[in-house]
Amino acid sequence: DWNSGNVIDEQVARIREQVGSARVISALSGGVDSAVSTALVHKAIGDQLTAVFVDHGLLRKGEREQVEQDYVASTGVRLITVDAADTFLGHLKGVSDPEQKRKIIGREFIRAFEKVQLDLVAEAKAEGEPIKFLVQGTLYPDVVESGGGTGTANIKSHHNVGGLPEDLDFELIEPLRTLFKDEVRQIGRDLGLPEAIVGRQPFPGPGLGIRIVGEVTADRLEILREADAIAREELTRAGLDSEIWQCPVVLLADVRSVGVQGDGRTYGHPIVLRPVSSEDAMTADWTRLPYDVLSKISNRITNSVRDVNRVVLDVTSKPPGTIEWE
Ligand code: XMP
Repeated sequence: DWNSGNVIDEQVARIREQVGSARVISALSGGVDSAVSTALVHKAIGDQLTAVFVDHGLLRKGEREQVEQDYVASTGVRLITVDAADTFLGHLKGVSDPEQKRKIIGREFIRAFEKVQLDLVAEAKAEGEPIKFLVQGTLYPDVVESGGGTGTANIKSHHNVGGLPEDLDFELIEPLRTLFKDEVRQIGRDLGLPEAIVGRQPFPGPGLGIRIVGEVTADRLEILREADAIAREELTRAGLDSEIWQCPVVLLADVRSVGVQGDGRTYGHPIVLRPVSSEDAMTADWTRLPYDVLSKISNRITNSVRDVNRVVLDVTSKPPGTIEWE
């Protein structure tokens, strides 16, 4: 009989035993799994843990604040945020190809994380308690999918980016390895994490970078961030969060259409709403959202987001359309 309290107690005891007096590092992504695994490890060993959050500039509105303020307030975790937006944007300049974008974002993420890890490792060494462990939010379905292996893998095992600095050969702490997503959310709630974090819908690692069809620029990110925030706000307000799997909001940055706003003609970009219902993201159907909600989202976006003069609805199932546009 599954009991979240028992799992927490068991894991806390196990983590303490595994870690001893060593230091531990963890990467927060803003997602559920890393938030809960990090909170669990923090409950076990407190400030022996340092959490790292890389702000790649492709985050949604309020996401960084959610981690830096709400998450830290509810856990007390020691957090380092890496400001890497300029670096990421620099490397993304002129790039439109989706897979190329993914590669660059993945590579730069590893670089940013490695850099801060090396700093932390050096600092810990100087203080006499080296960093020996890395927290990973691996769930049971991830274990099954990858063939059940374990060991001293590291964040790079998911990204093929060549050799790893020797100092970063950590042992893994994976407190969620036997759990399913719903169980992880329950543990997060019992650990006191905000509902906005434990109930979060899936969001891709490359973030808004793969929701701008065309080159990613700071200006375009700002436009998309506003539109995305409006859509999310209205969906939540209408009580639709549990009905949809996720709702990508996409900026067609290379497309313009004629509009009329105020006294004049405009030549602006379309925003695409892609609400989907799904069990596992392998297949999906477009969600039949109420017209009044769609109407509200469309009005608000076209009235308040600059350079956007049209909102369109994606009514494609998966297959043939993927959930994301890129
Ligand atoms: P697609 O677009 O393939 O998406 O139907 C299926 C699910 O995966 C998410 N997704 C990603 N997640 N990195 C991620 O971490 C990625 O590059 C990526 N691409 C898609 C997508 O949001 C959906 O939940």
